[in-house]
Parts: sequence; C-alpha cells; structure tokens
Amino acid sequence: MPGDKSISHRAAIIAALAEGTSLIKNFSTSADCNSTLSCLAQLGVSIERNGGDLLITGAGISGLREPKALLDCGNSGTTMRLLAGILAGQDFKSTLTGDQSLRARPMQRIIEPLRMMGAGISSDDGRAPLNIQGQKGLQPISYELLVASAQVKSCLLLAGLSANGRTEVIENETTRDHTERMFRSFGVPIETGDAEREGENARFVAVNGPARLTARKVFVPGDVSSAAYFIAAAALLPGSSMEVSDVGVNPTRILFLKQLRAMRLDVEVTDEREENNEPVGTIRVRGSRKQLSERPDTPMMIQGSVVPQLIDELPLLAVAGSQIEGGLEIRDAAELRVKESDRIATTAQNLRAMGATVEEFDDGLSVAGAARLHGAKIEPRGDHRIAMAFTVAALLAEGETEINEAECVAVSFPEFFELLESVVER
Ligand code: S3P
Repeated sequence: MPGDKSISHRAAIIAALAEGTSLIKNFSTSADCNSTLSCLAQLGVSIERNGGDLLITGAGISGLREPKALLDCGNSGTTMRLLAGILAGQDFKSTLTGDQSLRARPMQRIIEPLRMMGAGISSDDGRAPLNIQGQKGLQPISYELLVASAQVKSCLLLAGLSANGRTEVIENETTRDHTERMFRSFGVPIETGDAEREGENARFVAVNGPARLTARKVFVPGDVSSAAYFIAAAALLPGSSMEVSDVGVNPTRILFLKQLRAMRLDVEVTDEREENNEPVGTIRVRGSRKQLSERPDTPMMIQGSVVPQLIDELPLLAVAGSQIEGGLEIRDAAELRVKESDRIATTAQNLRAMGATVEEFDDGLSVAGAARLHGAKIEPRGDHRIAMAFTVAALLAEGETEINEAECVAVSFPEFFELLESVVER
C-alpha cells in the first residue's frame, strides 16, 4: 500500500516545523498530501521529492514565511485544519481555501478555539476561505472537543507548539493519535491521561510550548484505510486470499477489522512491530463461504463511541453489511454528512441503485441483508471513499457497474484501479 495519508500529512507538517532536514520514506501519493506539500512550499519550507522519499528542511517553530498567494488545500480537510493550527502561531496573514467540497465543510470547530488562543480568523460564515492573522506566543488553553475529531485535536496541539505554556485537549471519544505519536518521535513530550469528567471516558492530551522539534527519519506505513477496500473485497469474495504487508495497524485505525470479524469474515493481523512509534504489520484475508451473521434476524449495530474510529470505513462497512443476514445499522454518525460528500446520502443512494433496501436517518442508515446487488450507475459526487466502496460493491454485484468520474479516487489513492486490476482474477 502507498504511505498512510493521515501519517504523511503529519510527518510533512511536523518536519516543516523542525530544526534540520528530515527524510520521510514511503510518503503518501495522494492528491490530499500533495496539497499539504504545496502549501508548505508556499510557506517557505524546502521540500525535495524523489519517488516515495521526501527531504524536508524545517523552518523551526516560528520561521515560516508569509505566503504571496492563497493557500489551496484542494479537497483536503486535514490540510486545512492542521495548517490552520500552525498558521495561528505565525506572525503574518494567510488565507486557506479549497475546492467546492472543502469550502462547504464546517470550520467553526477550529475557528473558535484558535480565536481563544489569540489568533484572528475571519471566514465565510464558519466555512473557508479562512483569513488568518497569526500571532507569536499564543495563549495556551484547555479545550474540550465538541465533536470527536482528530483533525481538530491535531490543529490545537500544533497551535500549542508555539503557545506560551500548556495546551490541553480533552476528548470524550478516542480518535486517531498519529499527531501525538509523531510529536514524540520529533522529540516533543506529550502528556496523556484520564480527564476528570464524571461518568465519561474522557482523556486529555497536552503539549508544552514553545517547543523545539528535531529533524528525523520517518518511515510511513502503508495506508490501512486504503487497504480496507482490498481487505473487504477479498473477505467477501469466496475463494480469495490476500496478504497486505507493511501496513499501519495503529489500534485507533483498525477497528473496522474487528467489525469485519464480527460479520464472520476471515481477517487477521500478524507480524506486528513498531516503526517510528507507529504499529505496523501484515493483514491476511481469506474469502469466506460461511453464513455471514450469527443472528440473522437483527441488524448488526455500529453506534456510540466506536464511530469516530470507524469514520472513514463506514461507507465500506455499509456495503459489507448489505451482504450479511440481518443487515447493518449505523447510528451516531452525523459527522458523515460533513465529509467530502454527505456520506449518509451518497452511500444510501448508491446502495439503493444496486438493489439494496436502505433507510436513512439523520445520524446514520440501515441496510437490509443479505442483498443480491446488481450492477448500476454509481454517482460518488467527487468523493474518493464512495467511489472505492462502490467498486467493492461492483465486484460483489451481478452485471456491470459504471462509476461516474471515478478518477476522484486520486484524492487518497491514485493507484487504486491499477492495483485492483493486478489482484483480481477473471
Ligand atoms: C483524519 C481525521 C478524520 C478522517 C479524515 C482524516 C486525520 O477526520 O475522517 O479522513 O487525518 O486526522 P475527523 O477527525 O474530522 O473526523
């Protein structure tokens, strides 16, 4: 698998703030991570790319340069939200913008806490473009996340690097922890622990600023969220077998494997080890012939505190859920409506087009199972994860499926179709 997108964004941004030259190996090939690199270059960071290897010479914590033009984050929410965190602490003006989808996504969740830290930010009613007047020596804050979001958490931790004192983020639900791990590997101590909140599982993460980061070598593991499409396809197609090696198996990212196992699909993680503070391993999959559910009369439920750790895989799990007896219901996932597309609507619409019975809720959907999918015309509405989830559905369906503007997969996984072609037997 090409390098993990979430980890690549962080490696590039954190290396840009470090002192010295970092070598990043197996950097993501995604359009989203290219957006991050081109914004960093506009901010005066020196970047040399040689295939999957990147050499980034950092500008230090407050050495970025005022950009001469708008910073275009393309389709990438991670680029916009994480860069806003570092721009808040720089003594100049900058503007973050993006494509139509990104300009429609909610940014108030970062604007509010960054303003509390002293940054001046104006927006289009809580949406990009974001005009940021940064300030050296931000005010540290203790902030409880209102939405479970690793992007918001990471934005504030990055701002905390240049604040005067301890910046603390409290999260009530676990989200991916790549920023915390990457900080540690660049020599920035991070404190974590249980937050004192009654009856909640809240945790805090804190960083002390101003911090100094030291350049280092980073190996980016394969992207497990990209692997997810191959894993689900192989698991659902009887007779398949597949192995994905050197892939990230960070526990905050692989809950979808547990869900697939709960569907009685045959997936396992082996050869686990750590590289640069991130768990890496091999995932083995065998196509099942078993009956795909233990309780065929009730839908399998995905809800509550696990949702943030499954967020990117939910459209794919909905496709898999259509194949199990009893079907699948997803709740507490209203965040899906503000991703690259409204993923509740796009998933429901495309599943229905393939013959599944779907009910849509404000915060999720239910899909009846076991459905016999048929080929259809799929409208991903520019959303890479919808295009890939429905490519898996197409492999399961009878007849031909056409995916409109399927090139949007390049947002996270430009090699997707080529790689798929190389592993599918006809
Ligand atoms: C990401 C966090 C998630 C996820 C996105 C990548 C990250 O977004 O959906 O694809 O790299 O931090 P939220 O944290 O906003 O849910």
